[in-house]
Amino acid sequence: MKRIAVLTSGGDAPGMNAAVRAVVEQGIHHGLEVYGVYYGYRGLVEGDFRLLTLSDVHHNIRRGGTMLYSARYPEFKHKEYQEKAISQLEKFGIDALVVIGGDGSFAGALSLSKLGFPAVGIPGTIDNDIPGTEYTIGFDSAVSVALDAIDKISDTAASHNRTFVVEVMGRHAGDIAIWAGVAAGADAIIIPEEEFLIEDVVRRTEAGRSAGKDYSLVVLAEGAMDVDNFVEQFQVLAPDQSVRGVTLSHIQRGGTPTARDRVFATLMGARSVDLLIEGQKAIYLGVREEQLTVFDIVETLEKTEHQVRQDLFQLNQKLTDRGN
Ligand code: F6P
Repeated sequence: MKRIAVLTSGGDAPGMNAAVRAVVEQGIHHGLEVYGVYYGYRGLVEGDFRLLTLSDVHHNIRRGGTMLYSARYPEFKHKEYQEKAISQLEKFGIDALVVIGGDGSFAGALSLSKLGFPAVGIPGTIDNDIPGTEYTIGFDSAVSVALDAIDKISDTAASHNRTFVVEVMGRHAGDIAIWAGVAAGADAIIIPEEEFLIEDVVRRTEAGRSAGKDYSLVVLAEGAMDVDNFVEQFQVLAPDQSVRGVTLSHIQRGGTPTARDRVFATLMGARSVDLLIEGQKAIYLGVREEQLTVFDIVETLEKTEHQVRQDLFQLNQKLTDRGN
């Protein structure tokens, strides 16, 4: 093996740059040339490849976003685009590819592997929603940004004895809501994986006030319900409460990656290169019980579903069920 390439695809996530940097450092350490593919799968099809050196990547370990840029590129589902990508890779003499992204990006890596081109996936998405792995790069940073914002909102909420409903990202997964909600001591966490009644959320906030709380906080995952709709229905059921809704939106994707995201990104980036050199393909890296773990893309993506931390969710439900 002489040349490998790396791309980032889908929504950017803090820590992607740390993973790119580790791929480049480890590749160079093994005497390989490492190409960056710009703009994800679109760049792969269009041949937007640039040779990367240490000076291109070393500062980026501490930066959010992705230095390789990203794109949503649904066209890559089609075989003709995948074949075009492989001919671009062959034109550049590239022997293997590292794909950093979410489940859509992994589907692309799987297609390439099925067509015989070696590809290894690294999970990079703030949503933490990839089957098999308990953790994806960017999740820790996103939770930390969400929590910081929620703490600030809680200051003003308490000053006016208000109820705030804070909508966080996560697409179809409730992970960011659960972790930020537990860390903030939310009165209710609403996730798409669990049915909920707004009456029950009202009851929890009222019980909290009766028990002495001076504000109420609801953390709502975007995949469960739209925040404006939620606030409107909540207000009808609780006309005496002063309620506000906030959407945190894309600030959760930005900012400095946390130490945890940088460390796992570094571990995964370096290991992905080792695995490609060993001749592996159609696999991805993840974390299980804090250990770096290798997953088979076909087996895991096709047969497993992402699981949220039910234990954390249930704990919060229990702690905030104050009767009445
Ligand atoms: O997958 C990451 C994510 O930020 C989701 O949480 C969110 O639903 C989506 O991307 C937003 O996508 P876009 O930036 O394309 O609006």
